[in-house]
Amino acid sequence: MKVLVTGGAGYIGSHTALCLLNKGYEVVVYDNLCNSSLESIKRVEKLTSRSIDFVEGDVCDKAALEQVFTQHDISGVIHFAALKAVGESSEIPLDYYQNNVFGSLCLLDVMTKHQVNQFIFSSSATVYGEENKPPYVETLKIGNPSNPYGATKVMIERVVNDLAIANADFKGVMLRYFNPVGAHESGEIGEDPKGIPNNLLPYVAQVAVGKREQLTVFGDDYSTPDGTCLRDYLHVMDLAEGHVAALDWLNNNPGFTGVEAFNLGTGTGTSVFEIVSAFEKASGVSIPYTIAPRRAGDLPEFWADASKANQVLGWRTKRDISDMMIDTWRWQSANPNGFSKA
Ligand SMILES: NC(=O)c1ccc[n+]([C@@H]2O[C@H](COP(=O)([O-])OP(=O)(O)OC[C@H]3O[C@@H](n4cnc5c(N)ncnc54)[C@H](O)[C@@H]3O)[C@@H](O)[C@H]2O)c1
Repeated sequence: MKVLVTGGAGYIGSHTALCLLNKGYEVVVYDNLCNSSLESIKRVEKLTSRSIDFVEGDVCDKAALEQVFTQHDISGVIHFAALKAVGESSEIPLDYYQNNVFGSLCLLDVMTKHQVNQFIFSSSATVYGEENKPPYVETLKIGNPSNPYGATKVMIERVVNDLAIANADFKGVMLRYFNPVGAHESGEIGEDPKGIPNNLLPYVAQVAVGKREQLTVFGDDYSTPDGTCLRDYLHVMDLAEGHVAALDWLNNNPGFTGVEAFNLGTGTGTSVFEIVSAFEKASGVSIPYTIAPRRAGDLPEFWADASKANQVLGWRTKRDISDMMIDTWRWQSANPNGFSKA
């Protein structure tokens, strides 16, 4: 079976492409490389001894997508391609709505024309918004995220639900990720943020290799056990395997139509201080940090109820915080400049 992976050169997409290839799927990656490099694809090919059909293109470019669907016998799509920086999305909201929402509309339109009905979407825990309290369970009404990035995810979920009502053959899976971290255990592929990392662990890892001076912890006065925010961190390889589990589930349930949402997380919250000390233990490097005021929009704590993914998809996380830190460090220390050699 041939799967189109949009955004497959990126962090989660490259790990998922690797898992798909290892499971015997054929993979076409479609990516405009706006936040990634071809080197990740080459390394996935090396690690799997399989080849990927790579097409450089933008999901907003329907003509280019048309060509892909005409040239390849695509049976399903995993849609990662998106801009993902929460803070940036408030500065350039139109770019986010254009890229994420319009791009998804283009993709779904071309899929519909080519009668490709299997669609797995990279959604996010951010869809639960500020109204809901953890643990987040899929039956909660999805909320009103405080930033344009989150709003694009809510909008796309809505579009997919409406499409499934209109198209009786449509099979959609919304995977709501919690906080993916870590890297493939080879240390060959991992997260390679351009510029200043937005997320905690890439920042910590860059402090460890001397690329950043110190970590800033935004708020140590939350009503959490150590005063810092709690998040549900999961290993990117567990997350990647979640996509394969979702695709296998669709293939093993040909009668399924409609849309199902699944949380992909561990079900446990870990604090910023706990992450810093776990990383120090894994790397043997001490991480200097400073405390700054809380950041607007940061929720004190959230984590997943991931029991639905376990019951329905047979998926659960296998790797713990220590694995996440060890694999992050292996990747970062072997590739201090990410995929670029400079
Ligand atoms: N990393 C996280 O913490 C996280 C959490 C929840 C959800 N997600 C979602 O998961 C998906 C993948 O995230 P990631 O962390 O791997 O990000 P990433 O930036 O590493 O990967 C996204 C990929 O999409 C590509 N891309 C972006 N816009 C494109 C376009 N218009 N056309 C073609 N390609 C395009 C980028 O070049 C990149 O390779 C995104 O949809 C993101 O919103 C990520």
